[in-house]
Amino acid sequence: MKHTAKANVNIALIKYWGKKNSEWNLPLTSSISVTLDKFYTITTVTYDNNLKEDILYIDNNLIVDSEFLRVKNFMDKIRQLYNIPYYAKIESMNYVPKKAGLASSASAFSALAKAATMAYNINLSDKELSSLARLGSGSASRSIYGGIVKWHEGFDHLSSYAEQISTIDDLAILICLVDTSEKKINSRDAMNTLNKYPKLKKEWILNTKDALESMEQAIFENDFESMGYILESHAKLMHYVIQETGITYLNHKSFEIIDLTEKIRNEGIPVFATMDAGPNIKIITKKEYIQKIISRYEKHATTLVSFVGKGVESI
Ligand code: PMV
Repeated sequence: MKHTAKANVNIALIKYWGKKNSEWNLPLTSSISVTLDKFYTITTVTYDNNLKEDILYIDNNLIVDSEFLRVKNFMDKIRQLYNIPYYAKIESMNYVPKKAGLASSASAFSALAKAATMAYNINLSDKELSSLARLGSGSASRSIYGGIVKWHEGFDHLSSYAEQISTIDDLAILICLVDTSEKKINSRDAMNTLNKYPKLKKEWILNTKDALESMEQAIFENDFESMGYILESHAKLMHYVIQETGITYLNHKSFEIIDLTEKIRNEGIPVFATMDAGPNIKIITKKEYIQKIISRYEKHATTLVSFVGKGVESI
């Protein structure tokens, strides 16, 4: 009745932005990510006959606000889907730098999906686990796997799942912390505003489908340069779309790092920028270039280094 699981965060190379179904968290398009090795969540779920409600601790703090509600709703879904008759004590530790623009909800819900099912002796396949984690947070569906991962948009609960599509492991990911203050609007609320812009939404879907196809081809051919150009332009496109819906995540520091990336690239080193629902910039490159570039980024921002990580695991 007790189980502990560990899951890493991931960064999207082809972004997920927007839902076609909110209840089941089905995305507008498929997406592709890389799982990191340095930033993770460890969660223990203990079912207890005596509990009248779930109890949640994050980083040793009792949580009772909207974060609790989100976890409780997720646990309700799990209880309903797998006929689990107990409430649980959930203890979660995040080893993800706060406000770094790394979606700790991805590692959190991925670890929780694994711990909450295994604690009741339900041994799901990774595919089923991925669909389940998706109900907590879309990007969590991808953190079930290591390496390069594709989340298939699907059309219902079980057809919307992720799978590993490559084990490329010579990548390095730099995270440039340009601003660690609270995000203005979370990705969930922000992506829903896209529904108010049907024309923009249609363009976003078409462009993302194209980018996804090209990215899959580049991954298949192990063509890092092409992967880089596609991921950077798709991230820029997402931020253009977000901007058009009246939300701004990037600031002048973010653009400074994007410009620096272009400069380094023009000197012949393959570095590419991507950014999510916040101002921090992630640089995708290969391990062999880190020593050459790290100090240049550090001049502008605190910079963390990560490599390619594994999928969710029991510990
Ligand atoms: O799954 P969420 O709600 O954390 O949304 C993730 C959205 C982005 O990080 C901006 C893109 C992505 O695909 O991870």
